[in-house]
Amino acid sequence: MKKLNWIPKSLIVFAFIFPFLSFSETLNSGSFEVLPYLIKKNKDQVHLRFQQKNSQKLFFKNNSSNLIEVKTKKKELTTLSPFYQKCGHPLKISLSDDRENPVYKRTLKAFPCDPEKAFSFVFISDTQKHHEKHNKMAKLLLDRIKDRPINFIINGGDIVQDGSVEKNWTSFLSASVPYSQMFPIVPIIGNHDYWGNVYDDPIDDANAVFTPKLFNKYLGLEEDNEYGYYSLDYPQFKLIVLNSNFPKLPAKVINQQMEWTKKELQKSKEKKQPVIISFHHAPFTSNIFYYGPVAISFRNKWIPLFEESGVVKLILNGHSHLYERSLKDGIMYVVAGPFGGSKNWLPKMNNHYRLAIHAEKDTFSLFKVTNTTIEMETFDQTNQLIDSFSIDLEI
Ligand SMILES: [Fe+2]
Repeated sequence: MKKLNWIPKSLIVFAFIFPFLSFSETLNSGSFEVLPYLIKKNKDQVHLRFQQKNSQKLFFKNNSSNLIEVKTKKKELTTLSPFYQKCGHPLKISLSDDRENPVYKRTLKAFPCDPEKAFSFVFISDTQKHHEKHNKMAKLLLDRIKDRPINFIINGGDIVQDGSVEKNWTSFLSASVPYSQMFPIVPIIGNHDYWGNVYDDPIDDANAVFTPKLFNKYLGLEEDNEYGYYSLDYPQFKLIVLNSNFPKLPAKVINQQMEWTKKELQKSKEKKQPVIISFHHAPFTSNIFYYGPVAISFRNKWIPLFEESGVVKLILNGHSHLYERSLKDGIMYVVAGPFGGSKNWLPKMNNHYRLAIHAEKDTFSLFKVTNTTIEMETFDQTNQLIDSFSIDLEI
């Protein structure tokens, strides 16, 4: 095919971004080397990260602050964390230049304080390899959710193909622009995100970091960089994010993570709060990965813990590139299809607990959760509804 060499690079970049401008309140793409994107790792805060193109002065403002000058470093990402999100209150975020012209402006919709009113979020996974496919899925997703009160988008891991290649991360961010500048990403670490990662510190070093360097640069926060697990505690439910990359973690970190999880489950049990857990490696899947060491470890050691707690109601995984939903002993398991990753080509097997499977589909799932119900709708690469469920919870 003849190459379109005559199209200026800047025009290609503009064409890539332009379709989303109408949905954002303001996004001046010319001001940024890396466009602003949102990250969420605790219930109270939203973090805004970007890289400026020029060294012009920037000022941020949120619901309660005056204009405050942003300290940026040349050719480095800047993270702003002064954005506090409370139930019942929309969150307004803006960045302006020194003439007070907004270059980025967003209002994030409020989530309800009443636990009986639904909290909404999205689950995707394995954005991984094909950035054009990821971008196409991102546009479909945006079309579906742009007017909904989606609080965050969980990315179940394998965010990039090779976590040690910087270009993979910047391409991921470019492809994610339709949603990531409007809805915060809750990022989970997958095995591909660890590729090429080498630790400088001995395991027992007090400052040792057990998560991938470039994952931390683009999607980490200082407080969770060390281990990669955290929780978000809402009136409706608690979300626990785990780092399931056990082959990359020392035994003491895995044990530490399990003890932390037990405490989190106990706290939810005392509050009669439903718990949703998300991590990369699926314990129940019709993929051959069912026999992987992490899946086995989860089925032997972690799932019994989740079942005994009585509060865990939903588990969200990726890794298999195979959309599937299973039910075992009161816990629903949803494995996402890829959202940019390749189609699953491995032999399929029988999963005894399976309720639904779509082996050929790329997917995204929308959830509405109260303290007594979970509803889900899953859509494919043609934006067709392919699976759904609604369950009443008993705790
Ligand atoms: Fe994976």
